Amino acid sequence: MQPPAIQLIVEDHQALATVLRALCAAVERAGRSGRAPDFGDLRAMLFYLDEMPARVHHASESELLFPRIRERCPALRPVLDRLEAEHERGESAVRELGHALTAWEVMGEVHRESFELLLKTHADTYLGHMEVEESYVLPVAVDFLSPADWRELAEALEHQRGELGASMAQSHRALFTRITTHPCPRKEQP
Ligand SMILES: [Fe+2]
Ligand SMILES: [Fe+2]
Repeated sequence: MQPPAIQLIVEDHQALATVLRALCAAVERAGRSGRAPDFGDLRAMLFYLDEMPARVHHASESELLFPRIRERCPALRPVLDRLEAEHERGESAVRELGHALTAWEVMGEVHRESFELLLKTHADTYLGHMEVEESYVLPVAVDFLSPADWRELAEALEHQRGELGASMAQSHRALFTRITTHPCPRKEQP
């Protein structure tokens, strides 16, 4: 069985990948139909992709998990440096996407393509980032970290997320449910 700290990270990844793919699919559907998307839905997805990594997931990795892996497997330090730099770039890419979405919404179809291009680049990059963590970093960590490391990490993660507040966790879950169950109705093109 996987250590609980890894399960938590993988569950975050699954939720983030689901929302990223839902956002790409909603944009693609709008493109195929030739109609404007429901911008409120797209904004909710982008908000999740901004909020969850920046306030929760990246903090768990950069402040807790990665420092312990750095200690136990020095050979992984260059990869961890790259992943941490990608956290920062990912957060600014999502903010840029928010700006590009506003341009599409308020200035019209002429801005659709640049949003689509930015989204595709971000989705490919971030899915690749999570793939490196899951296929390369976490398996090595499982080999090198001790049971005591995993126990301490599980406690630290629980504490970190507890500090962030139960209400935040609840609102992230509610937002995730809204995103994954909402039928994303599309408006007629004005
Ligand atoms: Fe990461
Ligand atoms: Fe991650």
